[in-house]
Amino acid sequence: MSNSSSFKWNGTSLVLDAAWGDNGKGKIVDYLSPQADLVIRWAGGPNAGHTVNNEHGEFKFHLIPSGIFNTKCILADTVVVDLDILIHEIDELLSRGIPVSSKNLLISPDITMILDWHKKRDALIEVARGEKPIGTTRRGIGPAYADRTERIGLQIHHLFEKNFEKRFKKEFDWQTRLTKLMSGGVEKKPYDYDDILRRLKFARKRLEPMIQEVLPVIWKAHKEGKRILGEGAQGALLDIDLGTAPYVTSSHPTRAGFSAATGVYKINHVYAASRAYTARVGSGPFPTELKDEIGDHLVEVGHEYGTTTGRRRRCGWFDAVATYYGAHIAGATEIAITKLDVLDGLDEVKICVGYIFEGKKYGIGKIPTIKNRFLDHVTPIYKTMNGWSGSTKEARSFKNLPKNAQKYILELQKRLDKKICFVSVGPKREEMFSM
Ligand code: IMP
Ligand code: MG
Repeated sequence: MSNSSSFKWNGTSLVLDAAWGDNGKGKIVDYLSPQADLVIRWAGGPNAGHTVNNEHGEFKFHLIPSGIFNTKCILADTVVVDLDILIHEIDELLSRGIPVSSKNLLISPDITMILDWHKKRDALIEVARGEKPIGTTRRGIGPAYADRTERIGLQIHHLFEKNFEKRFKKEFDWQTRLTKLMSGGVEKKPYDYDDILRRLKFARKRLEPMIQEVLPVIWKAHKEGKRILGEGAQGALLDIDLGTAPYVTSSHPTRAGFSAATGVYKINHVYAASRAYTARVGSGPFPTELKDEIGDHLVEVGHEYGTTTGRRRRCGWFDAVATYYGAHIAGATEIAITKLDVLDGLDEVKICVGYIFEGKKYGIGKIPTIKNRFLDHVTPIYKTMNGWSGSTKEARSFKNLPKNAQKYILELQKRLDKKICFVSVGPKREEMFSM
């Protein structure tokens, strides 16, 4: 099987990320979504960056699900949304001839909105973290979720209340006071009342048809056995609870997160994407990071610059210990290996198959936790394999791959103890095969 029309999936299935994000989920979603009746995004907000490359060209999304080209998409309750960015993405799609309307995009009224103060607070808190900032995307994600768990802040349905302006004024005043306090009085007039209100009113008018109760739509589709595809964001190792805390994001990029967002618990397949090597953007532990010319090769050949922030991503050998852990907490049933072609031409390739922590060896699946206090103090144990000459880019099936690349894939499969169901060998839609 080699293309999306011949690969069949059914029920409710998810595409998420087994590691620290940016592992090519967008491409897998684009591949599977032609068959989907519904695509649902549940994690994070505009911190995400999904690159899709298809017959319409290249697109970079932060909020719009990559399924938008093929089917009806939903932004679920648990996504945090910056309406300015959302509208910008819709306009970009429209200007390139891709229709976006209530026919193919629904936005939950229960979404917490990211406003100017969340972005400001994100930056202030990063400064307050001193020498060890998280390296957030500064898109206001953490503070917006903080408001949500505090059960304050503005949600989309508030825009439609009769007394919205009164509520807005109260929120504005409180956030202004908070920012003044947080900045030690440096911020004297942090926010522009009229400007924010104007933008919110504009968004309300613009998005109104798409803002609809989403749970009945999701549950109906689920009950009827329609094909629902959950589109992940970020990566399992960035999970607020089970990830590499404190260097994590503020949501649940896992199967559990999908269920929490939708009330849907029966999930057939969970495809977890992982590059053929490992990378992360932002701070935090990264045992297999390479700061040498091989690291540079991975960055340059893999175009490893953040879609959202443009930051250079940190790259290293495939960490099977961290990825196994990530796939486990993600609830993965199968693995999609992406960017195999980036390893083309290397003399040897390495896989981290264990860690040494305080003099003790921990194999795959044996580590007690992936939290920073552990992960930041481990030394990787590697298995070294021969590289391959020739290109993987033209391969459209497993047996087309150079022999050593096949061995590498099989080794990953063995170490992760999960079936590898897709291998991607380039950014284009056709540069991928199922196995
Ligand atoms: P935040 O989500 O902006 O609060 O950032 C927290 C951490 O998660 C930082 O290390 C970010 O670089 C990382 N992060 C957040 N979203 C993504 C993503 O979509 N891909 C990769 N890293 C992400
Ligand atoms: Mg990304």
